[in-house]
Amino acid sequence: MFNNRTKIKHLLQSEPTGNEVIVMGWVRTFRNNQFIALNDGSTNNNLQVVTELGLLDDATLKRITTGASLKVTGIIVASQGKGQTVELKATTLEVLGDSDAEKYPLQPKKHSLEFLREKAHLRFRTNTFGSVFRIRHSLAYAIHKFYNDKGFVYLHTPIITASDAEGAGEMFRVTTLPMDGTAPKNEDGSINYKEDFFGKSTNLTVSGQLEGELGAMAFSEIYTFGPTFRAENSNTTRHLAEFWMIEPEMAFSDIEDNMNLAEEFIRYLIKYVMEHNADDIDFLDQRLAEEEKSLPQDKRSEFGLKEKLEFVVNNPFERITYTEAIQILLDSPAYKKKKFQYEVKWGIDLQSEHERYLVEKHFKKPVIVTGYPAAIKAFYMRLNDNCEEGKQTVAAMDILAPGIGEIVGGSQREERYEKLVARMQEMHIPVEEMSWYLDTRRFGSVPHAGFGLGFERMVLFVTGMTNIRDVIAFARTPNNCEF
Ligand code: 4AD
Ligand code: MG
Repeated sequence: MFNNRTKIKHLLQSEPTGNEVIVMGWVRTFRNNQFIALNDGSTNNNLQVVTELGLLDDATLKRITTGASLKVTGIIVASQGKGQTVELKATTLEVLGDSDAEKYPLQPKKHSLEFLREKAHLRFRTNTFGSVFRIRHSLAYAIHKFYNDKGFVYLHTPIITASDAEGAGEMFRVTTLPMDGTAPKNEDGSINYKEDFFGKSTNLTVSGQLEGELGAMAFSEIYTFGPTFRAENSNTTRHLAEFWMIEPEMAFSDIEDNMNLAEEFIRYLIKYVMEHNADDIDFLDQRLAEEEKSLPQDKRSEFGLKEKLEFVVNNPFERITYTEAIQILLDSPAYKKKKFQYEVKWGIDLQSEHERYLVEKHFKKPVIVTGYPAAIKAFYMRLNDNCEEGKQTVAAMDILAPGIGEIVGGSQREERYEKLVARMQEMHIPVEEMSWYLDTRRFGSVPHAGFGLGFERMVLFVTGMTNIRDVIAFARTPNNCEF
């Protein structure tokens, strides 16, 4: 019954052939008991279905309400209405599922993003979310295509792990022990995880990198693309507790190779979407322009969405060192006028206000910052040689994007066994438990590098949406795990 249906996207591109087709979808609007705007999610453009007077009885007409699902058989004819070349002249119409117009939450009018977040189970049926999630899909596909075409092996790294890849302690525990106080205890009163499901303390992964490195030490080039979890209590428009990350890892590569790959990758993704989702980008471009009209002049973006994407595709990213970034901030009018909330001096972790100043005010383009202080970065990053006294840096690189801040975090890895062990000890990383990781440095260690691209931050950048909750189907954030 269902497999001979024509998708609305294809129908709208066809000629008025006079052929009979079957379409199915959900009613967006119904006017004059005659004109149905039908949508099946293949595009934001609705198919106009015309039901000639007398075709349907009153009872059926009453059931054609916003949100109801229909199966329509009809003839493709030239459209008299504006905005479309073809429409469907219905010959038979069947209501597959009713939708009580009084109760259906999505009325044919503009709803706020906040309202739609509460109705996330239905928001895919709106134009904005239709575009966002079709683009999200395209990006996911393009990611695999990019790495596949380069010969990288897609490695599925585990979701449950016993390690803390970032050493930041922001993990969700995984356990089957009872939470009612009856869990087995050690002599000191702490919980005895030897009795737990895995015989040790386990958590959801914060990153697939460490396992990714093991793969790169055999395949030369791998990538991961999967969900990662962070129990950081950051209630911002850029943080999720469950987000997706792409992590390529390359043997025989240094920080330069790493930056080059990341830049090429981001550009490829943008180009792919501009080519394959032109309608959705157009829609979001106009949507953003509309939104911006309600903002005060100084809060509006300098570029429209399409202009921004084209600019990024056509211009190389700026590359600066952390030390240079600090100097730019110290020399900035913003600093002199005490506009920064957080302190600026060598050694600080760049705050979002600093990143945004560099990217949006100073360079006005994506910026790659390298050579961060070792003290604020993860244990696996390679120590730079010949650093100034008291200013030890690592071969880290972060890519900062306009409107987003950090979109990529990566580094060349410490491949020298002794230096890595010393650093792990210094940062209280359990060396014994990580001997599997250290084995790659014991047996055929090579210079290698990689990075992580936050998938949702990339979707934000490409769609021009401003809240990360609006680019993942069902957001998990502090105090929120609906659906
Ligand atoms: O900078 P991060 O923490 O780096 C890593 O996890 C490394 N293991 C990556 C690597 O070298 N293989 O995270 C990488 C990226 C960030 O730049 C950001 O885009 C995204 O992941 N990210 C988040 N996205 C959404 N919500 C969060 N809570 C995020 N934390 C990081
Ligand atoms: Mg980072």
